[in-house]
Amino acid sequence: MIEFNAADGLEAADVLVVPVLADRQWGPGAEEAVAVLGDITAHLDRADFSGKPGQLLELAAPPDAPWSSVLLVGVGEDPDAEAVRKAAGSAARRVARATSVVTTLHQLAGGRAFAEGFLLGQYRFDKYRSEAKPSLTEIVKLAAASNGDLEAAATGATIAAAVALARDLVNEPPVAKSPIAMAEQAVAEGEAAGVRVVVHDENAIAEMGLGGLGAVNSGALQPGRMVEMWYEPQGADKFLALVGKGIVFDSGGLSLKPANMMEDMKTDMSGGAAVIAAIKAIAQMGLRVKVAGFVPITENLPGGNAMRPGDVITARNGKTIEVLNTDAEGRLVLADGLSLAAEAEPDLIVDVATLTGACKVALGEEIAGYFANDDAAASAVAAAGDRSGERIWQLPLPADYRKKIDSDVADMKNTGPRWGGAITAAHLLQEFVGKTPWAHVDIAGPARATADDGYVTKGGTGYGVRLLVALAEEMAD
Ligand code: BES
Ligand code: MN
Ligand code: ZN
Repeated sequence: MIEFNAADGLEAADVLVVPVLADRQWGPGAEEAVAVLGDITAHLDRADFSGKPGQLLELAAPPDAPWSSVLLVGVGEDPDAEAVRKAAGSAARRVARATSVVTTLHQLAGGRAFAEGFLLGQYRFDKYRSEAKPSLTEIVKLAAASNGDLEAAATGATIAAAVALARDLVNEPPVAKSPIAMAEQAVAEGEAAGVRVVVHDENAIAEMGLGGLGAVNSGALQPGRMVEMWYEPQGADKFLALVGKGIVFDSGGLSLKPANMMEDMKTDMSGGAAVIAAIKAIAQMGLRVKVAGFVPITENLPGGNAMRPGDVITARNGKTIEVLNTDAEGRLVLADGLSLAAEAEPDLIVDVATLTGACKVALGEEIAGYFANDDAAASAVAAAGDRSGERIWQLPLPADYRKKIDSDVADMKNTGPRWGGAITAAHLLQEFVGKTPWAHVDIAGPARATADDGYVTKGGTGYGVRLLVALAEEMAD
């Protein structure tokens, strides 16, 4: 557990971390550090260090200096909260072997962004290594920090812990996150924060008419679960419902994926993990907004009882779906989750899902796509993206594309033509929200990272947690 303390100035520590802006403009504290180091121009030149975002240069300090080394961190021109988050993340990974750190980085954009970035940069998933190499950092001293800065850092730490929880869930091997185990963890995490959690087992799933979840689960031996989480603080005016895709392993079902496409499919519950972790953080922050979460959880496997291409299923709201490709399973379980969310009559529904390869093709690995049936819902999601630093881009949901999922036998089919696959998926989801304002966030790209970068670490990213927390902050009084 890292402790964030206030320090009067650049107090003694293993490492001093100071920002440098574009074109070698010293950030807060850098001039003082350089005065101790002496002329470092040759070092800067040799490293081609100009203060660009992402640049790091660690310099040994003289023996009588209060720090063993000074880490210069490039933050570019006019650094905003996201620039600080990224710089803090890169710096944190570099100083992970240092016990104590003193910094001024928070002075650029506040303690929250700094704490989020630093803690997430040091995230590791070491649980299954015989020789774990945990980060050693215990204390981070924030130079000249106000009480406000420390409070902000504490909020940042709460949010970072929630993102780390989501990363842990995503990185967990599929054998260790059966629907039962994941639901149990949702109960434990939620209840620790005062959230009421209700788990519907396989019998309840059948009784409640959750036909999408039931059909996807039918090819697996492990029973499925529908998790409901309720955070209902006193005096909240607004009500936000969240729905997260919880496919703990997606083989494709009978429409089996090729082996290489299956390698990452333990991460197909990233939306569900984001919902569980975000609700926990929202409750810990005590935000005055009512929040309900719905997470349908199952494997998608091709067992002897598996749903077949051609089957017709009936979702919770009574609408029927012809299943033509069993690999388009996310929309089937979300149909039930969204129906339950709509029944609760919230002001806004937001679902988060690793839904389509098409969205990843369109926007890449760093940007999520979103769709909305309502302009205010779309603006709220865009604002949450700005506020949190989680990148997101609106994609269109044109009414005439609905006919691409017209079925010969049912109300709709679960796949459309190859092109525009993210849009037709969103159209199917829209059938289950009624008139409730709704946004759908497709996180197939950013849920996973292929390399460490700033505060993002390779593997599960926990994308969506900060977005959903920011959304709840906007809706809270
Ligand atoms: N979980 C996948 C989507 C996905 C793909 C997420 C790659 C992350 C990376 C989803 O269940 C899926 O298989 N979608 C299909 C839909 C198709 C069969 C209509 C896809 O995108 O290929
Ligand atoms: Mn699939
Ligand atoms: Zn899937």
